[in-house]
Amino acid sequence: MESTRDPKADGQANPRMHVARSRIRGWALLPDFSKLLFIAVVLPVLSITALHLWQSREVAREQYATRLADAARAHSREIDAFIQLHTAALQVVAERRTTTGNVDDEGLWAADMRRVHRYYPDFSTLALVDDDGILVLTEPAAPQAPGVSVADRSYYTVPRRTGLPYVSDAYRGRVVSQLPSIALSVPFFSGKRFAGVICGAIRIDAFPALRREPGQAQDFEMLLVDRSHTVVHATPGLRYGSLDALQAGGRDRPLRRLLSAPRAAMQRMPGVLRDGGDAYAVVAPLRDGWRLLVLVPESRVDADARHNMAVTLGLLGLVLVGVLVVTGVQLKRLGVYVRDLLDRMQRFALDSQGLPASPEVLPIELAPLAEALNQLASRAHHAYEEVSSSLDEQRRLREELQAMAGRLITIQENERRTLSRELHDDIGQAITAIKLGAMALQDESDQNRRREILDEIVGITDQTVTKLRNLSMLLRPPQLDTLGLETALRWQADTLFRSGTPQLEMRLEPLPERPDPAVELACFRIAQEALTNILRHSKARHVTLTLAPDAAGENLHLAVTDDGQGFRTGEIQGLGLVTMRERAQQLGGSLHIDTAPGKGTRMSLTLPMHEIGAS
Ligand SMILES: Nc1ncnc2c1ncn2[C@@H]1O[C@H](COP(=O)(O)OP(=O)(O)OP(=O)(O)O)[C@@H](O)[C@H]1O
Ligand SMILES: [Mg+2]
Repeated sequence: MESTRDPKADGQANPRMHVARSRIRGWALLPDFSKLLFIAVVLPVLSITALHLWQSREVAREQYATRLADAARAHSREIDAFIQLHTAALQVVAERRTTTGNVDDEGLWAADMRRVHRYYPDFSTLALVDDDGILVLTEPAAPQAPGVSVADRSYYTVPRRTGLPYVSDAYRGRVVSQLPSIALSVPFFSGKRFAGVICGAIRIDAFPALRREPGQAQDFEMLLVDRSHTVVHATPGLRYGSLDALQAGGRDRPLRRLLSAPRAAMQRMPGVLRDGGDAYAVVAPLRDGWRLLVLVPESRVDADARHNMAVTLGLLGLVLVGVLVVTGVQLKRLGVYVRDLLDRMQRFALDSQGLPASPEVLPIELAPLAEALNQLASRAHHAYEEVSSSLDEQRRLREELQAMAGRLITIQENERRTLSRELHDDIGQAITAIKLGAMALQDESDQNRRREILDEIVGITDQTVTKLRNLSMLLRPPQLDTLGLETALRWQADTLFRSGTPQLEMRLEPLPERPDPAVELACFRIAQEALTNILRHSKARHVTLTLAPDAAGENLHLAVTDDGQGFRTGEIQGLGLVTMRERAQQLGGSLHIDTAPGKGTRMSLTLPMHEIGAS
């Protein structure tokens, strides 16, 4: 009886639970994928972006250097022209006075100065100074001015000394206006003698190049510096104001160095902006030894590069996010399919039903995998079926063997009973009859009667000998031992088919040597059973029996063929066929039966000539 097995007792977990537990969670390839993405995409793109940014920053700087230089040149020319124009206006007046050469005709001077003031309104004040450096008159007229000495002022001393027009450095006025100004002065002469100067003060904020219209955005910052490194004018974005002196050391050192350089390229000036920022600067010289600096905040130069960087990084980010999203979605999809495939495989492993995957619903990358799984599964399925059918066959054979063993015992018992009956009933009776006859002989004196009894005894003895021979033949045919297999077969066939129906044809080839006695006996008994079966069951008309050795002379082949009704091998009930097969297998041979209803029967036997293992 089969025992019922408890899976838990066997240490096996519930298979359904196993399926649920072995589901793959998360994405195991993520670290590798991220590393690959970083090395293959992020690093190269970042390097290219950095290079691109560096290049665009360089380009932006060069562009600004050119623009600054152009602006500096244009503005310095404008300032020079402005100064020259105003100096020329004074020079016309001075030259008109040079022939008469005195300051006495104040009325004429005043009229000239008024005219100049009218046509050149950027002059904040016009002043006439005599040869002693005393203010004679001013335009517009200032009551406190006449009589004041300006003999210490460079706009008086220099033209007096050189006899040439002069542009002063920046100063804060003290007579008429306190606002930062510069003065243009032109000497006039009486004959060859210095007779005084006519000078015009211009407020610095009147310089057209430096004026900033309200609300008008200025591209660049500007710094105008005079010969003594005093700031004439600075735009509001710079940390300098008018009349600030640039120090030789400290924070102003880079500016001073740039101002002293004869031809300087654009340079970076740290901390020159009012907000503490750095700026790039280009310097342009003016005619009178002044210098004009044009500056642009470093942040503005870098703004373009930063803008480029932001755009590039934005695009890069978008591309990266896009790549990540697409890859992630694809991998997730693939993961779902793979998981589904694994689930199906696990389900298949549990119940072996159907095929685990259908390649047509999977993405093309997974189709070969699904096909391979299907092939594997169908092979496993076949193997499983083969194993279970072979187990069924084994079970059937075992049951057959058990039944056969039972029947064998019964037959053995029957045979013994028959033998004992034969010995007791027949031979025992005959010997008793012989004994009784012999005893009767002792008491019989009549010769005729004695001969009769003797004849009876001889008759009974002959019958008994025949019976004994038949009995012994049944147990083991004596011809087999004395005359060999072929002769024993011929004798047995002749005995069975003596009547001539069915007709028997025998083809017995001589064997190269005598087989072992056990082999001879098995071959004889199998042939005997086959022939008996034909007589009992086949209704054949023609029977053939052949015996032949194989080419190597190591095996013998016996075949018994009939043209009778045949039978279905699956429905075997008797013991004869089973015993035949048993006998053949015991000696290492084989037995095949070819038959079907209506098709006759062919029994083929192969036996080794010598018992395997027998010496
Ligand atoms: N040559 C044959 N032609 C037709 N049927 C056959 C032949 N040989 C065997 N059979 C069939 O096979 C069955 C089994 O034969 P088997 O020799 O095993 O048993 P049996 O002859 O019926 O009984 P026993 O056990 O006494 O031999 C027979 O009952 C018969 O139906
Ligand atoms: Mg039989």
